[in-house]
Amino acid sequence: MELLKQRIAKEGIVLNNAVLKVDSFLNHQLDPQLMMQIGEEFAGRFKNEGITKVVTIESSGIAVALTTALFLKVPVVFARKKKSILMTDDVFHTQVFSYTKKESNDITISKKFLGSKEKILIVDDFLASGEAALGMAALVREAGSQVAGIGIVIEKSFQQGRQRLLDAGYRVESLVRIESFVNNQVVFL
Ligand code: G4P
Repeated sequence: MELLKQRIAKEGIVLNNAVLKVDSFLNHQLDPQLMMQIGEEFAGRFKNEGITKVVTIESSGIAVALTTALFLKVPVVFARKKKSILMTDDVFHTQVFSYTKKESNDITISKKFLGSKEKILIVDDFLASGEAALGMAALVREAGSQVAGIGIVIEKSFQQGRQRLLDAGYRVESLVRIESFVNNQVVFL
């Protein structure tokens, strides 16, 4: 997605040749117009998959999942990293380890909002090690539903996430793929 590449080139800050900071439009401040364009792009790519629900994980996945679901005209549900005091229902849960943050989160989705026989599109902002996407896919499968695809805004292609998702049999659509960071500059694939 050319527009997204331009925004990354203009506003992205690479830290330690490892982490891309895009908090002016995706991870802290949000650009609503760009979020809509991203949602439209994901919806277009997955329009023939019969998606019945979009699943993401808090917090940065929520904006793009919402706009994607808006275009697909389906609901969106986000996995929680911390159990809400309001979450009294039965939940599906699994462990997700964040290599970037060096912490483990028990992610949960209420059984009320993840039924069986759904066709789920998983959406997230970054794909690095693939832990978050694999965790969400595990919840979907535990519910007895199908992962119809995985949509990623920014893929760090030099990490193993994409390969792990492909090996697990999932269709992966990334809007931007990053080959490497060189001298704290982004090299697109
Ligand atoms: P994964 O996302 O593929 O599972 O890999 P990893 O365990 O490395 O990622 C953990 C967290 O770090 C995720 O956010 C992920 O989006 C984020 N992350 C990974 N690489 C980058 C990067 O280069 N830039 C930025 N900005 N984030 C990165 P999270 O813990 O779910 O946080 P959030 O959604 O609450 O913001």
